[in-house]
Amino acid sequence: MILISGDVHSQYQVINEQIHFAEEKTGRALDAVIVLGDFGLYEQPLRQYFDKEGGHFLRKVYFIDGNHEEYAQFDHLVEKYRHQLIHLPRGQITKIAQRRFLSLGGARYMDALNSPSGSEIKECDIARCLAHKADEVDFIITHDCPAGIGVPNAPGFEFYGIPGFERGPELIEHFKPKKWFFAHYHRWFSSKNGESEFYGLPESWKGFGLLDENGNYEVVEHPVAKQEDWLQKFIKKLFSL
Ligand SMILES: [Fe+2]
Repeated sequence: MILISGDVHSQYQVINEQIHFAEEKTGRALDAVIVLGDFGLYEQPLRQYFDKEGGHFLRKVYFIDGNHEEYAQFDHLVEKYRHQLIHLPRGQITKIAQRRFLSLGGARYMDALNSPSGSEIKECDIARCLAHKADEVDFIITHDCPAGIGVPNAPGFEFYGIPGFERGPELIEHFKPKKWFFAHYHRWFSSKNGESEFYGLPESWKGFGLLDENGNYEVVEHPVAKQEDWLQKFIKKLFSL
């Protein structure tokens, strides 16, 4: 059983809370957790959670990159915390609990604030995906969604254009994946296109998905409290001095 999680945005403690809930609900141990990007890989909160507070994840945690990660230090942070979490690179197939996942982190360009250098999905990322044969892949995991599957824009964000990355339909056509999971839009979503099912997830603190060994997927709505993030704590500390 794999727990599929949406954006974590550095609320790392949420992962264990959702693991606990999932294991109590199902009565069994999870094989792994997969975070669909926007893990919030930033040096400051990582150091706080893992090094200062001694945090550790209860199960193996894999993640793909989103658009809210510290790209300037990405490889360094992935290496430093490799005992705590495993990054799934773009265009790589990884076997997790006997299932083969094709990962594609990143997102379509949004704006200078939300699209740091390195976050944008590039042509070479798509080419790396398409270099694999369709029968090598069971599921596709991305941060952004493929364009054209009907994900609605968040109200007020219409100026970003139709959600999804433009070359997504090529991947659908090539792989015809049984299931495709994504996050980024902070909402539950599901649709079907031919043989493929598409599932969007909200932020990790609103719930998660469970994928069993037969490929069945279940949505679990389970809100948990968010903590003040490191920036809020830092600002408070600054003004209390
Ligand atoms: Fe995102």
